[in-house]
Amino acid sequence: MPALVLIGAQWGDEGKGKATDQLGSSVDLVVKFNGGNNAGHTVVIGDETYALHLLPSGILSPGCTPVIGNGVVVDLSVLFEEIDGIEARGVSCERLVISADAHVIPSYNRTLDRVAERFLGNRKIGTTGRGIGPTYADKMNRIGIRVQDLLDEKILRQKVEGARAQKNHLLVKVYNRKAFTVDEVVEDLLQYVDRIRPMVRDTSLLLNEALDRGETVLLEGGQATLLDVDHGTYPFVTSSSATAGGACTGSGIGPRRVDKVIAVVKAYTTRVGEGPFPTELLDADGERLRNVGHEYGTTTGRPRRCGWYDAVIARYAARVNGVTDFVLTKLDVLTGWEQIPVCVAYEVDGKRLDEMPMTQTEFHHAVPEYEFFDGWTEDISAARTFEDLPKNAQDYVRALEGLSGAPFASIGVGPDREQTLELRPLV
Ligand code: GDP
Ligand code: IMO
Ligand code: MG
Repeated sequence: MPALVLIGAQWGDEGKGKATDQLGSSVDLVVKFNGGNNAGHTVVIGDETYALHLLPSGILSPGCTPVIGNGVVVDLSVLFEEIDGIEARGVSCERLVISADAHVIPSYNRTLDRVAERFLGNRKIGTTGRGIGPTYADKMNRIGIRVQDLLDEKILRQKVEGARAQKNHLLVKVYNRKAFTVDEVVEDLLQYVDRIRPMVRDTSLLLNEALDRGETVLLEGGQATLLDVDHGTYPFVTSSSATAGGACTGSGIGPRRVDKVIAVVKAYTTRVGEGPFPTELLDADGERLRNVGHEYGTTTGRPRRCGWYDAVIARYAARVNGVTDFVLTKLDVLTGWEQIPVCVAYEVDGKRLDEMPMTQTEFHHAVPEYEFFDGWTEDISAARTFEDLPKNAQDYVRALEGLSGAPFASIGVGPDREQTLELRPLV
């Protein structure tokens, strides 16, 4: 039985949470493989709305085992706050398991994330300020602190001591902040040890054994293709591997076990934070997309930048992830436009480009070439089959599919679990 990868095709907030939740009842394990509490996934089930950050969206499916994989960076205070919040609403977190190899976000990295952004001035990334970048940097720099270190106080002390010199140098000499002591960091982390101990597992082993038994594993990506540290719009990216390749390194299963790569793509485009965005609308249309689509960050509450669908980006996502299926979301938000533009190519320095430009400079200069599609006025939020959609909406979807490089498996017409038109089964 297969492993399925589910990732974002654009700059995040495509509706990955809803898509994962929908597959939750058909899979045995849902694994978060990258990122941390920079992610924000909103899942709507009837009258209940859940905002998930660190917990895999599979937490809402009884019978499904949620897994925090080795590729995740964990802020323990946020994790337990989220667990307590969701358990108070009657959702059990008993089945949650956490990789011994996942890194934890020590408090000094939250401070460093925020001061580094302030020092960058107008070159800032617009990070979520959660300590994500500095923690991944520590991992690569081999001064990170892992979940397993909490299980051995002596080792934990050594690890924090190892990071202290470099980190305090940065905090004090570069950023003019207070130094931390090893004791205060160790104490802060150890307050969670009794709660986390029963959840800690060799999750690579657990996942491979589950696959050997024929169970189905869904690997859920945070962030998205264009925020990926390798394939995104660097340096305006997050610090982890948010593309399909990251699903293997971030969970400890081999690429040959992956059967499908599902990319979630919005019927228009949004971005939070700084960085290039060719189809961005800075006019009343952008404002309208933001208002109708409720495009405000789940994590930071920041207004999301909005623009038209960009098929160059969708094709790029299809290519770098090896997408087998797209899940199209938020088609309902486009109801009421007379005409809907879709970016089919870029013009860069007088030349037409059908693919993502090679350099970031060219991408900054990319001017969208639009094709225009006739809109529809009918409310589509109650549609349940493709045939329920007005003809112009059908034509818009089929045109996007033709331009995007992989077939569409479903279409979202509202935030609720039920508001989905299935075109072909994913599991
Ligand atoms: P994620 O980070 O990719 O999980 O996406 P977010 O949860 O941050 O943002 C997507 C938002 O769109 C959430 O508020 C969802 O409830 C909502 N949503 C998802 N699919 C649809 C859809 O098809 N139509 C509408 N109107 N809202 C949707
Ligand atoms: P989900 O999983 C949208 C953006 C930040 C910033 C950049 C780097 O909900 O789609 P970071 O704090 O990660 O170092 O910030 O990445 N960003 C997201 N944007 N959705 C997300 O997650 C994001 N996670 C990070 O806004 O531009
Ligand atoms: Mg989000």
